[in-house]
Amino acid sequence: MTEVLSVDPESPDPATIARAAEVIRRGGLVAFPTETVYGLGANAFDDAAVGRIFAAKERDPSDPVIVHLAEPADVSLAARAIPPLALALAERFWPGPLTLVLPRAERITPRVSAGLSTVAVRVPAHPVAHALIRAAGVPVAAPSANRFGRTSATTAAHVLADLAGRIDLVLDGGPSPHGVESTVVAFENGEAVVLRPGALTLEALAAALAELGAPPPAVRRRGPSSGSPGLLERHYAPRSPLVLVRGPAERVRAWLREALDARPDTPVGLLLFDEDAAALQPLRPCHRFVSLGGRSDLAGAARRLFAALRELDADAPAAIYAVEPEQKGLGLAIADRLRRAAEEVVDLGADG
Ligand code: TXA
Ligand code: MG
Repeated sequence: MTEVLSVDPESPDPATIARAAEVIRRGGLVAFPTETVYGLGANAFDDAAVGRIFAAKERDPSDPVIVHLAEPADVSLAARAIPPLALALAERFWPGPLTLVLPRAERITPRVSAGLSTVAVRVPAHPVAHALIRAAGVPVAAPSANRFGRTSATTAAHVLADLAGRIDLVLDGGPSPHGVESTVVAFENGEAVVLRPGALTLEALAAALAELGAPPPAVRRRGPSSGSPGLLERHYAPRSPLVLVRGPAERVRAWLREALDARPDTPVGLLLFDEDAAALQPLRPCHRFVSLGGRSDLAGAARRLFAALRELDADAPAAIYAVEPEQKGLGLAIADRLRRAAEEVVDLGADG
């Protein structure tokens, strides 16, 4: 049985937090809201507890998990020999959606890192996450609270859809404000390398690095040698095949129009910006549209992304067609998730 406890996202009830913290300390699993997505937490010092995370998610043991701390000053509980540039970024962006890959401290169970000598660490800004980790009194290992390879969870209902009966407790603190995961940054030869684009934009990271007199971040392409074993090609995936369409808006709409006309009676899900949907009207009843919002509101699109994918997937359509946002700001993280969720990418060429 999985228990669900509601908490105020701004000022969670201390008694509820104490109960959840007790579950973590006893070696149990607690799903909790963070500002990015919901995490599935366990005591990062406890090897058996971390093993339960992998079992509940059916997560590949080669995919390392992020360790969450209550305060930036706790970083030495999880990591050692921290590069000066990492400390400077932590000071600038913690608490917040930045994850740093650092040399792993001895007490963190190696299972967290899938055997690597490094550990990914972050200090979440969400009041519920903060209160829980603080009350637990230990670093909390927490991947996103979804079945492995599937769409991430941004509400307690998403967590339950994937993990009910497999975990002890869900703290329901409402929807996660950012809606996409943290930005993962590693350090190579003293320089920052982005392993996963996320809620902290590349522009904000580059500006901070420039202020620190450091070179702009390299962005690592995914693949077997990416240094981040969990960055598998197909991830975040709905059950229905997702087709991602990218290119100039006019061409994308023409492609969609033709694709829908060719399948007039086939249930198809559409993950579109409002402007694209307006241009495709009228839609047939079996062509179901869920909005990402307006094209210029990338923060809104990030917030809606995973819920929208889950909503479309619930109807088990023959396919889900999604359009790629502009490659700037949060658009980078959204496009990354959609590409990795996609079974097929239709590339209609560059803008202009
Ligand atoms: O926003 C987030 O980061 C959320 C919330 C819950 O904090 N967590 C999250 O965890 O997205 P997860 O496990 O779904 O993704 C962790 C990512 C993976 O891409 C993994 O490869 C990378 O972090 N990672 C973890 N440890 C690493 C390490 N030691 N070296 C390189 N990459 C690592
Ligand atoms: Mg994940």
